[in-house]
Amino acid sequence: MKKILLMVSAMAVSGLGFGQKAIYKDAGAPVQQRVRDLISRMTLDEKVGQLNQVNGGVLTGPAVANDPGQQGKVKLLKEGKVGSFLNVVGAAQTKEVQRIAVEESRLGIPVLFGFDIIHGAKTIFPIPLAEASAWDTEGAFKAAEIAAKEASSMGLHWTFAPMMDVSRDPRWGRVMEGSGEDPYLQAQLAAARVKGFQGNFDENHVLATIKHFAIYGASEAGREYNTVDVSRYAAWNYYLPPYKAAVEAGAATVMNSFNLFEGEPASGNNYLVNEVLRGKWGFKGMIVSDWASFGEMMAHGYAANETEAAIMALKAGSDMDMESGVMRNTLAQSVKDGKVPESLLDAAVARVLELKFKLGLFDNPYKYHDEAKEKASLLTAENLAAARKAAANSMTLLKNTDNLLPLKSPKSILVLGHLAESQNDVLDFWKGLGDHKNTVTVLEGLKAKYPGATITFVKGVNRDGKLEAGAEAQIKAAAKKADVIVATIGLYGDLAGEARSLGNPEPSKGQMDMLAAAKLTNKPLVVLVQAGRPMIITELMAKYNTILYTWIGGTQHGNAVADILSGDVNPSSKTAMSFPVSVGQIPVYYNHYNSGRPHKDGNEGPGDFWVSRYRDTPNEPLIPFGYGLTYSKFEYSDLSISKPEINQNESVTVSVKVKNSSNVDGTEIVQLYIRDLVAQPVRPVKELKDFKRVAIKAGETATVTFELPATKLSFYDADGNTLLQKGDFKIMVGPNSRDLNEVKLVLK
Ligand code: BGC
Repeated sequence: MKKILLMVSAMAVSGLGFGQKAIYKDAGAPVQQRVRDLISRMTLDEKVGQLNQVNGGVLTGPAVANDPGQQGKVKLLKEGKVGSFLNVVGAAQTKEVQRIAVEESRLGIPVLFGFDIIHGAKTIFPIPLAEASAWDTEGAFKAAEIAAKEASSMGLHWTFAPMMDVSRDPRWGRVMEGSGEDPYLQAQLAAARVKGFQGNFDENHVLATIKHFAIYGASEAGREYNTVDVSRYAAWNYYLPPYKAAVEAGAATVMNSFNLFEGEPASGNNYLVNEVLRGKWGFKGMIVSDWASFGEMMAHGYAANETEAAIMALKAGSDMDMESGVMRNTLAQSVKDGKVPESLLDAAVARVLELKFKLGLFDNPYKYHDEAKEKASLLTAENLAAARKAAANSMTLLKNTDNLLPLKSPKSILVLGHLAESQNDVLDFWKGLGDHKNTVTVLEGLKAKYPGATITFVKGVNRDGKLEAGAEAQIKAAAKKADVIVATIGLYGDLAGEARSLGNPEPSKGQMDMLAAAKLTNKPLVVLVQAGRPMIITELMAKYNTILYTWIGGTQHGNAVADILSGDVNPSSKTAMSFPVSVGQIPVYYNHYNSGRPHKDGNEGPGDFWVSRYRDTPNEPLIPFGYGLTYSKFEYSDLSISKPEINQNESVTVSVKVKNSSNVDGTEIVQLYIRDLVAQPVRPVKELKDFKRVAIKAGETATVTFELPATKLSFYDADGNTLLQKGDFKIMVGPNSRDLNEVKLVLK
């Protein structure tokens, strides 16, 4: 009798009655059938439960008011009311949480573990903006693949990356997470990262997230969480292409953004989610809110209460509620009250469950939680070597006027600035599980690179950029014994990322004073600028001759700097964002419209008055998009196209000769832009359409070719329809968005 009772209660726990066949437990049944079967067994509360993502670790957003606390969360888990956890990491921790879900909840539905693996899990790669400046899709794929391998070994199924918000505003702290100002480059990298993260949905990979959908990068004045108000025409042509490319690359999930689009919060935005993402692009996957963004529809003044917010999100096509709790608190009642059809709820739940089935979690819930594998996967020599290479490829040489670099065999180096010795600041806010103890600083990198040299360090400025007491005298004294000075300035790492907008991202006065003291010594001076965004460095560029923009390089930052300074790596990076002359020039970007009264810097004069220009500032940025130097010298010539005219089904071959006229082997990033001279609506003065990283040996000439199909001359109208308009185009090729050769092409 006792035995029978036990059997009955075990069946009750698993949701089975006599004679029922649990199709959802049958690994051989098709996924859709398993999903339907499971949903048919779920209570309303359990269904709503699957739509909740709950924070289980560090806060990556504001604490929620009615947070259930740890015990409360375990209770919810046992009741089947947690679909996913974020910020629970580690093979052991995730395994225990999974055990509770699978063994102690009625239906045993496994949870999904998500985390922000933005540029590495334990081995931290350069920030994505830096990685973008390498224009290396294979490198981005590899970095994502390594990050996925480490992350999945730590029990994670899902990363909230890649971020692909096109942005033209370096005041915005989150530019570090994206790939800069250009939709084409951003799209190529987004697709590569999605594929690198996801692989074949196995336990060495993680699901990718397209974020933030959509247009978060246009936050007004670069102020975090601020209003976005752009036209549909701008949305389609500038902001949406990377998200679309990531959908096409097969990304499993999408995250809503915090901002408004057309006056409606993205999380409840029917146009963005239902019409564009699910409609036009056919996205079938799961959509998660951003941190509490469903609930924030109330603060926006869009939803009157939690009930409305949850219904709006669901109706707009979003599925999972990260942290706001509005679905958990209200949705079951709304279904009971007939305010929202249960079929809509079921569709959202199905999308969550489908992912879990696809990952094989129902058949082997513990496949991601292997501590031995975790140990063996993190910070491997291979991962560190890849991170070092990626960091060196991402650092942008802005000036080398005196050919001071590379430093072949310095006998003594004076290193200046807090950033040179700081392990923390080579990581940023989105450092995954990166540990400062595993990082290599500039000081350490230089010591390792030049073991025979005397390397001294004077702090000069502190973390906040303030001059240390007595710094000038110390620099003067220490410089006497130095062949060369390497000075670090910039922004500390934690000033890169979310909620880190800056109204004036300039080097501090203390940093500039430190450089002035170094310059007074008349010793050769290398300036390293370390920051997660383009800073305003107009004065720096005018006064100093050797400047390497290192961005934030991650775990191997210091080794990568040393590789470049020594010449072991010839820099090749080109900035993925324009550097403004001043804050007043923001937004400044290369792919702008011509305006009805265009102006060209240098033409200022009486005839150039009623034109589109500032009276105190140039129009052009300080450093244009796509710009960066190498130790080689590349000369472009003989730009040609295979035919002067093409029709809409044809393509043309564009070729150019690039000569490495130096005695150093190098890599050049060759960029191809177009301009559609007359179009309705109007088109920008330049649009990037292709690029190639080409290795060219010293003294050799490469013929670089691009296949340009007519379809690349197309653009979108405000409804997202593709337009291909006949007429004249300029085809431009060169080393950056400013210095281009051009030929004419006619589209018949
Ligand atoms: C960020 C997202 C992130 C999420 C979870 C939010 O505050 O905007 O990008 O994925 O937190 O950490």
